[in-house]
Amino acid sequence: MPRLGVNIDHVATLRQARGGTDPDPLTAAMLVELAGADGIVVHLREDRRHIQDRDLRLLRELIRTKLDLEMATDETMAKIALTIKPDMVTLVPERRQELTTEGGLDVAGHKNRIQRIVAQLQKGGIPVSLFIEPNLAQVKAAHGVSADFVELHTGRYANAHGSKETDAEVAALTQAAKLAHKLGMGVNAGHGLDYRNLTRLTQIPEIAEYNIGHSIIARAVLVGIDQAVREMKTLLN
Ligand code: PXP
Repeated sequence: MPRLGVNIDHVATLRQARGGTDPDPLTAAMLVELAGADGIVVHLREDRRHIQDRDLRLLRELIRTKLDLEMATDETMAKIALTIKPDMVTLVPERRQELTTEGGLDVAGHKNRIQRIVAQLQKGGIPVSLFIEPNLAQVKAAHGVSADFVELHTGRYANAHGSKETDAEVAALTQAAKLAHKLGMGVNAGHGLDYRNLTRLTQIPEIAEYNIGHSIIARAVLVGIDQAVREMKTLLN
């Protein structure tokens, strides 16, 4: 059964809206774990718009499953990661003005920088995943810089209209997942996944883990975080 990593950034987004302490992403993380999630994902952004450094430090102490830190490919962030020691790091592209991570990393185009950061993190004992578009060139480039995992960007699949576009995106994800698996990398997937569009992807057996944030936190506001996580876990069964 594929694993579920829950991204709790948006609990912190709600807290930051008033600059106070509620809702606390630490409490959310505990409830998410109790509901059966397999990991907690947070993105420490350069602008600190949601998750803060303190959250990360305390999450590291509290989490019993797995802490996946999403971060930009830069030296300052790498230093933070090497101090905190999450269970894995997922490198993502980051632009200040974006609402959320908009595309995958261009691994081939930034090979030297990515390779350097991947090596630093791995030397510190942290496995590294690269968030990439589902295309074969990016998968090969990820393998070329010795990534342990790829996370396939499912945003285009989530936004596809009609069966033709959707089928094409599923085919791209399937081929990318198969190649990454064949090259010995672990395969994760995420972005824009929800209670409607997830099921179809579970037919790609190479995808071992899904990282899902917005749809779960959005549903949690209405039905509670426990139920929201459990429903998503059920879809993965
Ligand atoms: N995976 C990565 C690498 C991401 O950057 C994000 C968004 O922070 C997600 C998964 C989760 O996306 P969503 O919030 O749309 O489920």
